[in-house]
Amino acid sequence: MKDLAGKHIVLGLSGGIACYKSAELCRLLIKAGATVQVVMTQAAEQFMTPVTMQALSQRPVYGSQWDTRAANNMAHINLTREADAVLIAPASADLIAKLAQGQTDDLLSLMCLARPAERVPLLIAPAMNREMWQHPATRRNVAQVQADGARVLGVGHGDQACGETGDGRMLEPLELQDEVIAFFQPKVLAGQHVLVTAGPTYEAIDPVRGITNLSSGKMGFAIARAAREAGAEVTLVAGPVSLPTPRGVKRIDVKSALDMLAAVTAHAPLASVFVATSAVADWRPANASASKIKKDGNGQPPELQFVENPDILATLAQSERGRSRALFCVGFAAESHDLLANAQSKRLRKGVPLLVGNIGPDTFGQDDNALLLVDESGTRELSRDSKLSLARKLVAEIAYRISTGAKP
Ligand code: CTP
Repeated sequence: MKDLAGKHIVLGLSGGIACYKSAELCRLLIKAGATVQVVMTQAAEQFMTPVTMQALSQRPVYGSQWDTRAANNMAHINLTREADAVLIAPASADLIAKLAQGQTDDLLSLMCLARPAERVPLLIAPAMNREMWQHPATRRNVAQVQADGARVLGVGHGDQACGETGDGRMLEPLELQDEVIAFFQPKVLAGQHVLVTAGPTYEAIDPVRGITNLSSGKMGFAIARAAREAGAEVTLVAGPVSLPTPRGVKRIDVKSALDMLAAVTAHAPLASVFVATSAVADWRPANASASKIKKDGNGQPPELQFVENPDILATLAQSERGRSRALFCVGFAAESHDLLANAQSKRLRKGVPLLVGNIGPDTFGQDDNALLLVDESGTRELSRDSKLSLARKLVAEIAYRISTGAKP
């Protein structure tokens, strides 16, 4: 099922050059399964034509409170009654000021005031010049609309249309799509701090070579995203992967297993959940060479000695907070065969309340997966699905176990 299936979103555009991004945003919301009703201010129509927005949304655009198309002539009432959310993108300084004061001299601000606020949330994506964004009047107005219940989605940083650089750009369409999707996810991990490891580790042999594996990191990144969508504060410790950081997630890049252990140990005291998805290299070269190892000319390969890496998951699971479940530890097991038996024995060996098994070679680098959850009370299969859908289901399983205090 698409992430926004069944959701009806009123997309409001006020005046700003960022209106060009709203065309793409409209497409993305529809692609994610939503229906979109566009409302534009007169200023927005200076930047983007209603024709474009009508063609993309497949619905007539509303721009005036005097529009006679509605039988009761009350577009400002009708438009939000079936809506699941109102998203204003871009929200200009002027529009935010109007919302803060409850002014109603255009359809968009009138409609926001007239919406049933308890069941139709208001999301705001500001867009303006950096001086306007920092001005005390805007700071006051933003604080006021937040106090009145609006969700301000933040702004981007970077080059602005005026040639200046700073805070105030509207978030990118994909970022806004992610924010809207996240907004509708149940907040089952609110108040929790989730620490996740993801991706492979890289164990240096010399400055130009090393040992690593085929883990893509996708499952761990999906779990970090799902935990954040569920309201948790999330720290993601990632081995070398080229994946974008999920929005709102704090990412720490590491290379080796020892680096990963150090990062995890530093953040564990604040965490309440630890999910280890990383494919940590079991061994590392005992003595990495400081300079590139050269061929000796006799056809003899170098003799490499290995030492075992620390088990990061077991270290945390067997710490005081891990044993008392103040830190709820979840392990993953990538197996090539005998998934159930291997997952059960690995759960006991690592000392974790929940272990998630999957068939490694089938899933590395793929966008989907199938999981087998193993805990003290038995097993549960999560059938093949996208890694993000599975991550959301796993987050719900973890939240349930934390809230009921289910023990292994
Ligand atoms: N793990 C870890 N540190 C390690 C090895 C593994 O934190 N040094 C974690 C993984 O992130 C995963 C779980 O332990 O959550 C199981 O990893 P896996 O590689 O399947 O198991 P191993 O312990 O390496 O056992 P084996 O190689 O014998 O299957």
